[in-house]
Amino acid sequence: MRDLLDLYLPLCAGGEDGGWVVGHLGQSLDGCIATHLGESCFVTGPDNILHLHRMRALCDAVVVGAGTVASDDPRLTTRLVAGPSPVRVVLDPGGRLGDGYRLFRDDAAPTLLCTAAGKGGGRRHDRVERLELPADADGLRLHALVGALAERGLRRLFVEGGGVTVSRCLTAGVLSRLQLAVAPLIIGQGRPGVSLPRTERLADALRLTPRIFRMGVDVLYDLDLAAAADAGADLAASPAAQGTLLRVL
Ligand SMILES: NC(=O)c1ccc[n+]([C@@H]2O[C@H](COP(=O)([O-])OP(=O)(O)OC[C@H]3O[C@@H](n4cnc5c(N)ncnc54)[C@H](OP(=O)(O)O)[C@@H]3O)[C@@H](O)[C@H]2O)c1
Repeated sequence: MRDLLDLYLPLCAGGEDGGWVVGHLGQSLDGCIATHLGESCFVTGPDNILHLHRMRALCDAVVVGAGTVASDDPRLTTRLVAGPSPVRVVLDPGGRLGDGYRLFRDDAAPTLLCTAAGKGGGRRHDRVERLELPADADGLRLHALVGALAERGLRRLFVEGGGVTVSRCLTAGVLSRLQLAVAPLIIGQGRPGVSLPRTERLADALRLTPRIFRMGVDVLYDLDLAAAADAGADLAASPAAQGTLLRVL
């Protein structure tokens, strides 16, 4: 129980503005999140899958890239824990995804389809809202995404994959935490997890201080990317944060 409080309680309280952006990937020992054909169910074990559902219950919106929707057809709901399902946010700059995917058709939670301004194509199901975002050579501008979601009251964002999306969020500096769940599995030349521009010197590499949590046979590295100091210091005193947490444990 102590571990669970350490892991989740800071998230219940939120960051300085009440929000956070957490990226998560479940990867093999050799850094892959799926086979080269895109099979990823499941890289990590049941404890980490339960963690994903808890994170969904604690966030306002879950963000995924078009590649994940195309490969997995995910629902992104909180089926394993109590608590509301988050708004589903799909980054599909060119509108390449068809209408048939489950999160465009079901009523489990609202879905926001983010496209580049002026792109995104034809008809969509009524329950899918379109959000047009500015784009540049690196794709959709992710600070604009975070701002647009905050304007809708969506401040706690869980970026659930895939590797391209989490890596772009990391590069753009919008993540406050990165969670990497490492499974004792070697996939071999699969889809990459975190992939950043090359650094010439090891001294320039992003070296982080992890908090480490065992999840069955997997190990979760919880990495604080925010400049601000630990937001969790006074959280044990917050009944609101504890109430939120008790729902999902
Ligand atoms: N193990 C895990 O934790 C995990 C989690 C999720 C998914 N997966 C697996 O990972 C694979 C998919 O991951 P992936 O890395 O290939 O793809 P992805 O990150 O799911 O999607 C990448 C695509 O999303 C769009 N996108 C994301 N960020 C964008 C930005 N800032 N601006 C513009 N477009 C953006 C782009 O679409 P366009 O190509 O249309 O430009 C991009 O190519 C699947 O095999 C899935 O099963 C594993």
